Amino acid sequence: MTNHSFTAKGKSTFWISVIAWVTVFLAVTAQAREAEVSLIENANQVFKPLPQNMATEVFPIIPIRVALGRKLFFDPRLSLDGTVSCATCHRPALYGTDALAKSIGVEHRLNARNAPTILNAALQFKAHWIGDRENVEEQAMRSLIGHSSFGNPDFAAVVHKIKALPGYEAKFKQAFPDDPEPVQPENWGKAIGAYERTLVTPSPFDAFLKGDVKALTSQAQNGLKNFMDIGCASCHNGVGVGGSSFQKFGVFEDYWKKTGSQPIDEGRFAVTKNPADKYIFKVPSLRNVAMTPPYFHDGSVAALPQAVRIMGKVQLDRELTDQEVYNLVAFLESLTGEQPEEFITEPILAPQAFSALPP
Ligand code: HEC
Ligand code: HEC
Repeated sequence: MTNHSFTAKGKSTFWISVIAWVTVFLAVTAQAREAEVSLIENANQVFKPLPQNMATEVFPIIPIRVALGRKLFFDPRLSLDGTVSCATCHRPALYGTDALAKSIGVEHRLNARNAPTILNAALQFKAHWIGDRENVEEQAMRSLIGHSSFGNPDFAAVVHKIKALPGYEAKFKQAFPDDPEPVQPENWGKAIGAYERTLVTPSPFDAFLKGDVKALTSQAQNGLKNFMDIGCASCHNGVGVGGSSFQKFGVFEDYWKKTGSQPIDEGRFAVTKNPADKYIFKVPSLRNVAMTPPYFHDGSVAALPQAVRIMGKVQLDRELTDQEVYNLVAFLESLTGEQPEEFITEPILAPQAFSALPP
């Protein structure tokens, strides 16, 4: 039957084309895999995966200090009016921020700037938008007497409060055994700092850097490429994807023309009084950035795509295409990590009412 020979011929043509397609498919897949692997290699030249924690030689992580620091972080009773703790403005539910453009402290006092997340914050070379704090330890200590944060008149008032709350003095002694006077502001800073140095949030991007090609979607991978090719990574690099230098905000155009900022913050000029430091800010770490709107030092921009577009324009003189913005945002979303259990749960604090304070 002619029908039969036709079918046999059809079958062999079918198999030849299957083999051809499989070969093409394998070649394309191999090429794609090669491209992914070289993207991982390139990315490792610019970024680094998160460490286990952020201990340094000077600021070690001692479990008993961390436990004390965690209690202090969540305790509002050490503020001027008993209403504000670190966790008021650095909330676990909001990835270590408060979702406000500018934070509100004791007696509803308005802060000058937006609260960055405390997650991974100790990776950065300085603390605060204008780098006026050396490290998280100094930052925590100075918060105690910050006018619009804890609002205490002086350190002596704080020491008095700590000593009046049950349990703390003994815990300070255990955490700082070599210190004849353990209850003091530096040790408050060191204890909270030790806790903060445990708050790392490993993300899909970290898994990708360590070789897991599947950890990033292809759109996020394109975003990563864009991030490096367009020049974002010239400022936002290293383990924090930022947090390692000061740069001008508004290299090609005044930033406030794009952000609508009111008033205009002169940045690091406030610290150094050097005119060359006008509008210079710390390049922030972009870890968890998708979870921490609003954006910029004054929270002037609500949405991430808009912040990305502004960065392209004022830092790189570039109108980003919609596709580039989508890709970049997909990449930035891959920097969202898992929050540590010790942050998303609150410690129990020993009870004591203010009325019970000694005179
Ligand atoms: C009233 C709200 C508020 C309180 C309370 C508060 N912070 Fe902040 N925090 C902020 C704001 C606002 C900034 C940014 C200040 C700046 O850069 O000028 C900030 C900055 C920081 C930074 C620097 C982050 C970075 O990326 O530079 C750290 C770390 C930090 N706070 C930790 C703490 C700790 C620890 C406490 C408690 C001791 C605390 N904060 C209490 C609002 C607050
Ligand atoms: C010349 C250095 C530089 C370049 C290039 C740069 N940035 Fe920035 N970036 C900064 C500085 C400085 C800030 C802080 C601005 C401020 O004061 O609010 C910032 C802030 C941001 C923020 C807001 C973060 C937050 O928590 O509020 C995002 C998002 C961001 N950059 C993304 C990008 C992207 C995406 C690119 C590339 C298109 C890019 N940046 C290029 C220096 C740079």
